[in-house]
Amino acid sequence: MTTRTALLIGAAGGILSETARGLAKEGHSLILFDRDEAAVKRLAEELAPLTKVEVAVGDITDISAAEQQLAGIAERHAPSILVNGVGGDTRVIGYADLERSHFEETYLENVVSTWIAIKAVAPQMVRNGYGRIVNFASAGGRTYSHFNNAAYVGAKAAVLGMTKQMGYELAGTGVVVNVVAHGPIATDRVAGAFERRDEAAKKAVLSRLPMGRYGTVAEAVGSVRTCARKAPATPPAPSSTSTAASTCEWCSALARKQLTRSCCAEVCR
Ligand SMILES: NC(=O)c1ccc[n+]([C@@H]2O[C@H](COP(=O)([O-])OP(=O)(O)OC[C@H]3O[C@@H](n4cnc5c(N)ncnc54)[C@H](O)[C@@H]3O)[C@@H](O)[C@H]2O)c1
Repeated sequence: MTTRTALLIGAAGGILSETARGLAKEGHSLILFDRDEAAVKRLAEELAPLTKVEVAVGDITDISAAEQQLAGIAERHAPSILVNGVGGDTRVIGYADLERSHFEETYLENVVSTWIAIKAVAPQMVRNGYGRIVNFASAGGRTYSHFNNAAYVGAKAAVLGMTKQMGYELAGTGVVVNVVAHGPIATDRVAGAFERRDEAAKKAVLSRLPMGRYGTVAEAVGSVRTCARKAPATPPAPSSTSTAASTCEWCSALARKQLTRSCCAEVCR
């Protein structure tokens, strides 16, 4: 397997620290960016026996400073994997009680910070002809949420839209931009918010979850790692005998057992 350099933003967090552990075990070099200096240094110490690790302490929402810092990282290390994991909100606030500052904060944290990291790092990936970028939306951004508020859900929906546009703009360069959209995952932050609810509220929350429980961090990491990898095969040319208009090239190849990955559901629908 080709080993790469991965830049993780919000690296010390629940889902990203576990992502970092998986990448380190495969021998990928890591640049761990987080504003929590103590936490990110602890993670770096843990992973140093496995791989080359560098710590970058910074606030991604301080956009100008972050742009400079990340441009320096791009120049020195040319990361070919970028994971944008800053975000998260567990405040349940009705639309009428939201304030302008909620929108400003959450948009900065989720959308503008994701854009600035990509702006700083992707041009180098394009020059090298390869890159994998993973952004973080949430299930709420695809629909609605019982766990937070319209400002956060709106920002995550914006991450979805922005990712599609960037994927479109970068198509053909070797740089692939994807977005993951998890339901509630029991990271310390989210599990802590659950624990602070009263028993009736806990029951109500769990009753709304299809599996009756939060997802685990290990489950959440799977989709992130998939998006950070190189696809195993190039889709073959469509079969001339294929008549199913709703079946994409990936699915036909899958049906012929020439491929082991599933195709994008949106392509097939
Ligand atoms: N955990 C969930 O239930 C869940 C569900 C759906 C989507 N998500 C999304 O997944 C991503 C990761 O979630 P998580 O629960 O693992 O997060 P987390 O709260 O465990 O970790 C976030 C990390 O980002 C760092 N950070 C926060 N603000 C920063 C800033 N301005 N600059 C630099 N670093 C900063 C924190 O120090 C922390 O280490 C987020 O984007 C979140 O919105 C999480």
